[in-house]
Amino acid sequence: MSAPAPRTASRKILVTNALPYANGPLHLGHMVGYIQADIWVRFQRMCGHDVTYVCADDAHGTPIMLAAEKAGLAPEAFIADIQKSHEADFKAFGIAFDHYHSTHSDENRQLSETIYTALKNNGYIASRFIEQAYDPVKDMFLPDRYIKGECPKCGTADQYGDNCENCGATYGPTDLKNPFSVVSGATPVLKESEHYFFSLSKLQAEVQAWLAAADVHASVKAKLAEWLDGGLKDWDISRDAPYFGFEIPGAPGKYFYVWLDAPIGYFASLSALLGNDAEKLAAFIGPDSTAELWHFIGKDIINFHGLFWPAMLKGAGYRQPTGLSVNGYLTVNGAKMSKSRGTFIKARTYLDAGLNPEYLRYYFAAKLSDGVDDLDLNLDDFVARVNSDIVGKYVNIASRCAGFVEKFFAGKLPMSLDGACSDAIGLLSNVENPVTSIDDGSSHLHPIRALYEKRDYAAVIREVMDLADTTNTFIHNTAPWTLAKNLDTEQKRTDLHQFCGIFLNIFKVLTVYLKPLLPNLAKEVELFFDIPELSWNDVDSRLLGTKIRSYTNLANRIDLAQIKAMIAASTESLAPVEVPNAKPAKAASAPAAAAPVGGSDTHASIEDFAKIDLRIARIEHAEGVDGADKLLRLTLDLGAMGKRQVFAGIKSAYPPEKLIGRLTVMVANLAPRKMRFGMSEGMVLAASGDDGGPFLLAPDDGAQPGMKVK
Ligand code: 2FM
Ligand code: ZN
Repeated sequence: MSAPAPRTASRKILVTNALPYANGPLHLGHMVGYIQADIWVRFQRMCGHDVTYVCADDAHGTPIMLAAEKAGLAPEAFIADIQKSHEADFKAFGIAFDHYHSTHSDENRQLSETIYTALKNNGYIASRFIEQAYDPVKDMFLPDRYIKGECPKCGTADQYGDNCENCGATYGPTDLKNPFSVVSGATPVLKESEHYFFSLSKLQAEVQAWLAAADVHASVKAKLAEWLDGGLKDWDISRDAPYFGFEIPGAPGKYFYVWLDAPIGYFASLSALLGNDAEKLAAFIGPDSTAELWHFIGKDIINFHGLFWPAMLKGAGYRQPTGLSVNGYLTVNGAKMSKSRGTFIKARTYLDAGLNPEYLRYYFAAKLSDGVDDLDLNLDDFVARVNSDIVGKYVNIASRCAGFVEKFFAGKLPMSLDGACSDAIGLLSNVENPVTSIDDGSSHLHPIRALYEKRDYAAVIREVMDLADTTNTFIHNTAPWTLAKNLDTEQKRTDLHQFCGIFLNIFKVLTVYLKPLLPNLAKEVELFFDIPELSWNDVDSRLLGTKIRSYTNLANRIDLAQIKAMIAASTESLAPVEVPNAKPAKAASAPAAAAPVGGSDTHASIEDFAKIDLRIARIEHAEGVDGADKLLRLTLDLGAMGKRQVFAGIKSAYPPEKLIGRLTVMVANLAPRKMRFGMSEGMVLAASGDDGGPFLLAPDDGAQPGMKVK
């Protein structure tokens, strides 16, 4: 980290999280950044700082417009549903935003227009005509990810316009051979239109100056510096209709590119929170603001937050960010999240499996240091770690001592701890003021506080679990359960009472340390001690002479069956049909295959099976496909359900004319897939194995086209 922000007096801090796109549910990969930020926010609040924490759905752009169309909804209705699901998931994981908004809001429209107009008035907006790929059937310009074709180098079919999955060649969409629009299947044409550009290049020096002073991890700074050294290019901030977004003032038919109004959404959410009070808003975002502004983001969007956004803010006369906290990607069991392995886990699926959301917070925290490394959710390790740390080490301290206080001392903690032996007192003071090996220049801070401050949660957990280990060893050696067997003298009673008093005070201090990670569990502990909300200052305010409540189990172990259920519910048995997105899923690309916890014995439930609509179909027509040796184009008759075109890789086994008139079985509710040759609207079923194939499935006589297979 570079120059730390002032750390002493009360700070006014605005914290934001990257805005999730309103085009699908949250998955565990998303949760990393939200959990990381929420922990920091809770920590800062416990230290008495004034923190405002906002977020919103990122609602604009082509993928969302097309997803809404596919769902048969107006974009406004589509994004409203998704926003509801996002908010519910965030709440369940304890992500306590002060406000959650949408970029498709009046506040954002107004702020986007104001910022754009300021940039224009200050001479940072230019326009010129450019040529782009256009879908003549769908009548729209095509973003790069909506064009596919054959790799210009090795000829592999169905490749995106940036690089080839087969040979790794990189190129532009116009280099593809036989390109086609993913939206309609049509061959794109080049078409000219006027675009608006933000003159980033004019603000290069300002961005450089900002970066030098900003609190940004050295590796991120280095990456940004590389781009800066290459010289900033002007940034295309307009898109043509049809586009779901805000129309640019004075430019009918032109819309702000989603990435122009997305970060402005941070301010829009804040403004809504502040009741759109201009003065209060200016205290956060005006050029003279003394508040800190922190953006928590994933490493894939550092260019937007480390170059474009600071430039926009400077160019339009606003304050710039204090710092960026950047997280890496999530892998599960050492590999990219995968639908077929059941490791592409939605936040909701985790919850539905009955898993405690705080356990995921804890596990992610244990893997999050101050760097930007990717982190792995190893499900075996997750179970072992949570059961060992939270249940076996931390909660164990209370569960081993509380009962004695209740039974022998009417639930009252000792009035003082002065009667305890010096080793026990020493243990408590060491927990209150741990001596750590950390030397990061913030020695004026409590060491665990210093670790939280720089978001090295992994080190927080290491320190806290070390303290818990030492305490458990001490408890083991003291064996209060043995002391409790013979309380025939006052001294013996005092000893037991003092030991339990020490151990429960240690438990309280550890609770303070863990509270940002485990807020609900900490709340249970506050109830158990019958005390007000714990803050950081409670590290060394001891609980003496107060009454505890009757102890009830504070944390349950994770049951392996819950993990299995989660994986089973996440496993897709059918090859997923690709839905083009603005970018690939946020997960790293390590290719290793890893078995799910407990082996690969996941089962499809009857509900899973019921999702597949299998129907009898008559092959009305079959023909070869030019340029595809293995494929046949089939026209399938489904009786009252109409006709379908399906491409099937069965040409090696079936001359087309032999198929005409035959009955077979098809999957009738597969999302249509755009192929180079046209739409494929389902899938026929065939068996194959080492002994040959494919063998097309066929029903017995009497089956009729359209009949449901069940
Ligand atoms: O990458 C994404 O998922 C974007 N929706 C993040 C936007 S962050 C901010 F700039 F709005
Ligand atoms: Zn290739």
